[in-house]
Parts: sequence; C-alpha cells; structure tokens
Amino acid sequence: MFQASASAKVILFGEHAVVHGQPAIAVPVSSLRAYATAEQASEKGVRIHAANLDRVIPVNLDSQMLEDGLALVIRLILERAGRLNPRPDLDIAIESDIPLASGLGSGAAVSTAIARALSGALSLSLSDDELNEIVFEVEKTFHGTPSGIDNTVIVYETPVYFVRSAGIERLSIRQPFKLIIADTGVSAPTRAAVEDVARQLEQEPDRVQPILVEIGDIARTARNYLEVGEIGPPLGELMTRNHGLLQQIDVSSSLLDTLVAAALRAGALGAKLSGGGRGGNMIALVGEARIEAVVQSLRLAGAVRVFVTTVG
Ligand code: PMV
Repeated sequence: MFQASASAKVILFGEHAVVHGQPAIAVPVSSLRAYATAEQASEKGVRIHAANLDRVIPVNLDSQMLEDGLALVIRLILERAGRLNPRPDLDIAIESDIPLASGLGSGAAVSTAIARALSGALSLSLSDDELNEIVFEVEKTFHGTPSGIDNTVIVYETPVYFVRSAGIERLSIRQPFKLIIADTGVSAPTRAAVEDVARQLEQEPDRVQPILVEIGDIARTARNYLEVGEIGPPLGELMTRNHGLLQQIDVSSSLLDTLVAAALRAGALGAKLSGGGRGGNMIALVGEARIEAVVQSLRLAGAVRVFVTTVG
C-alpha cells in the first residue's frame, strides 16, 4: 500500500488579480492535510473510498470528458505509467482535514495526494514539475481558468510569489509569523467568483483594471516586507487594503466582512478574505499578545472554525 499527503494553502495577497496576470503570494498550511493511499484491489475496477463522505465511489475512466477531477487525476497518472489499457484494479482511499470549497486548496491537495500515492503504487517516478502540470490540468475541471497558484504552492509545499505563466518563484520568509484562519462555514465555488470578476473586467475595464493593478502592487510591496522580515503594522495594513479592493470586485460577503472587522477590532494587524471568496476562509495577521482575543472575537462574530498557524 502506498500512502501520500499534501498540505492546504492560504493566499496571503493577490487572489483574483493573479488570474489576470498580477502577482500573488501563497503559503502552505502544513498542519492541515489531505491523505491518500493506493493499493492493488481484489475486486475488479477502480474505486475511491472517500472517508469524509463515508462513500465508495466507482470511477469511470473511459468517458472522453472527465468532469470529475479525481477521475481525471487517476487517468492522467495511469496514462503516464502506460497502464491505462489494460489497467490495474485499484482501491484508492482519501481522507482530508481541509474543508471543501473554502479557499484552502482542498481540490489541489486531494489531487496531489492521490497522484503521489498512485504513482508510488505503479512505480512511476514523477518529479514535482511533472506533478504540478498534472494537478494544474485537474484544477481546470474544478475552476475553469485557474491561475495555477493553488497547485504550485501545494505541490512544492513552499511559500511562493506567483505570476501566471512565469516559472515557480519560491519566497523566503525571513521571520516566521502567526496567522489566524477563520472559516465562515459557507462553501463557495471559486469558479463562479472567477467568472464574475472576468465579466466585470470585460464590461468595465476602466473601473476594474486599476483595482487589479493595485492588488498586484500590494503583493509586490508585501513580498519585500516578508523577505526582510518586517512583520508589523504596515504588512497588516496591506492585507486590510487588499480586502477592501476584493470587496470592490464583489468577491467578499457580509460574513467575511464581519469577520475581518471583528479581527481588526480585537487587535489584528490586518485581515482579509483568502481564496475565491464569497464564503470560505479569512485570514488575520496577529501579534502574539492579541492571538487569544482575536480568536475569541472571530468565534463570537460567527466563524465556525478558527485556528492559528505559523507561516515560514
Ligand atoms: O478558492 P481557492 O483556494 O481555490 O483560490 C482561488 C484563487 C483565485 O485567485 C481566486 C483563482 C486562481 O485560480 O488563482
């Protein structure tokens, strides 16, 4: 039996604008993970055992249009291994700590874990660059036009400064810092939010393009602070400004705004939604002394899950 895992991620700066060519910064959240195992099955066929759903799902690998991302990742790995036809009988089990459709990269993490476990079971050696290409293909079935940031930060499990169509650029975070992640409990499909931003950009370029450029400028400035280890109020202010710009392109929600306000009131240095928005998670940058107060304030304001992670 082959086992593998992959981490969750958060986007610190630049979501949505990154789809349109601006830079973004994302970091892995190694304490939240998706796990997969793959082994030769005694029954015929390929099945996914989804522990979180308590379901066994037979996988159809023959459809031309594989809309199901998990079936697609299995097929792409079998193809690479030259084992699609005839194919082995396989049991693949997945289990994930990462909430679905919540901006934490659960889709990319599950795909990455499956690809790693399955390539192990098939004795296929797969570099991270190859794996990244495969997971990017799968992300397209989840997201439509993904920028590629999720698969990149998750496959390499390293902080990244990401510009679409540029190579992977690892970001060195000079000074580790604490981040609070709070879940609205509302699952929101990234695809719809991304399509909506693209529509706004097409219909109102004079309004929307400057917003995206300003988000990109924030990501560039934030990169400098992170690289020199200046984790203080100016970095927090960039986060909060980034949130305000995301509100202007209508990817926030009233609960996300409430959580951001609650974090700031309780002493966070900055706060913003993270990921596709309209639900999902928000993040807050908090100095050590205010962590407990901000966690409490987020819970009282309606967050269904709050946890503290260390970045860097
Ligand atoms: O919602 P998530 O975690 O998949 O993040 C999506 C980030 C976007 O910038 C909104 C889309 C993308 O593909 O970069």
